Amino acid sequence: MDEPLSALDALTRANLQEEILRIWEQDKKTVILITNDVDEGLLMADRVIPLKPGPGATFGPEFVVDLPRPRDRTMMNHDERFKTLRAQITQYLMDIGIEASSGETAITLPPVRPNTSTDWKNDTTALKPSTDDIGRERYLEFTQLDKVYPTPKGPVAVVEDFNLKMQKGEFISLIGHSGCGKSTVLSMCAGLNEISNGGIILDGKEVDSAGPDRAVVFQAPSLFPWLTAFENVSLGVESVYPHAQQTERDDIVEYYLTRVGLGDALHKKAADMSNGMRQRVGIARAFALSPKLLLLDEPFGMLDSLTRWELQEVLMEVWERTKLTAIMVTHDVDEAILLADRVVMMTNGPQAKVGKIIDVDLPRPRTRKALLEHPDYYAYRESLISFLAECDQH
Ligand SMILES: Nc1ncnc2c1ncn2[C@@H]1O[C@H](COP(=O)(O)OP(=O)(O)OP(=O)(O)O)[C@@H](O)[C@H]1O
Ligand SMILES: [Mg+2]
Repeated sequence: MDEPLSALDALTRANLQEEILRIWEQDKKTVILITNDVDEGLLMADRVIPLKPGPGATFGPEFVVDLPRPRDRTMMNHDERFKTLRAQITQYLMDIGIEASSGETAITLPPVRPNTSTDWKNDTTALKPSTDDIGRERYLEFTQLDKVYPTPKGPVAVVEDFNLKMQKGEFISLIGHSGCGKSTVLSMCAGLNEISNGGIILDGKEVDSAGPDRAVVFQAPSLFPWLTAFENVSLGVESVYPHAQQTERDDIVEYYLTRVGLGDALHKKAADMSNGMRQRVGIARAFALSPKLLLLDEPFGMLDSLTRWELQEVLMEVWERTKLTAIMVTHDVDEAILLADRVVMMTNGPQAKVGKIIDVDLPRPRTRKALLEHPDYYAYRESLISFLAECDQH
């Protein structure tokens, strides 16, 4: 089986994992499963063998998964053996990932500020991105937000009474079951989807249309296929840094493309790239705009776990430096905790709203390794998993 479940949401994926296990136990088939998900490996396999990346790819060390069957997702979360195996495999994959990627950049970011802030007209000098009022309350505010979609059976309130306040510089993960309305909330915030009732205020201004002060990264990359990586990112950069020198703009483009590991593919056409590479271009483009608000809708969902971890690191590094305000929709519980100051869990739709919010009080800067070893980590994980499981029962 070659990643049969990778493109599915967490719930469907979990159900199908159980189904595959049931058939496997019944028929006693010999199975090789290729997966991008360490947890899936640990849940299903007798042995997990990471592949050492090519050229000349070879098998890495084998990890024997001696956890008793049947294995239960929630129970495993408490199992010391599970935690140890999970940490070991993760560490192994990260180590070979680091060996393989030598994407360090020699370019320094020019100290120019994008033309997306309301105060820019008074201040056209080259400045470092403004971080003075980090922590300002109610920088972004959703008030009694509703979304009603027309359906053949009449209008349906998909999202109803969604309320949330964010500080400037805060990072929020938005998590919830497939179809509950996460993308709907995000697209209203981006100004790409009409607000039915209520409102969204960003930095004192009501959101009523799309603008360069908000950058969006979707799950599937949306690039101009006939343009190169460099040209795709340049398009945005030209529009928000009209006051900078051409060389400064080029440096910004090259800096972010190198940061996401595309230093060697700057002038490759988007059409000739793999999905993972295209997604990196999309992420570089969003970062390069230094927006007030970064909206990420499962940006790493389609990527393998190594690439995902790498890009999470890039995201954290850029976020630490720029302190931009960000909302990220994800299905991945670990990703939600790793990145966020708060995890916002949405109830199942219709009439989805904020169900529960947890503060992630883990030290920054964070690394995946330190997090997996942190004594509180599995308690956070538990509370997310059990919220999602509770939603299932309704
Ligand atoms: N344009 C539309 N017209 C009618 N219904 C829609 C429209 N867009 C979305 N919906 C419905 O709204 C609900 C929420 O959709 P949305 O895409 O926001 O969910 P989501 O939480 O992002 O799901 P996923 O995790 O699968 O991406 C779904 O039931 C969907 O069918
Ligand atoms: Mg969605």
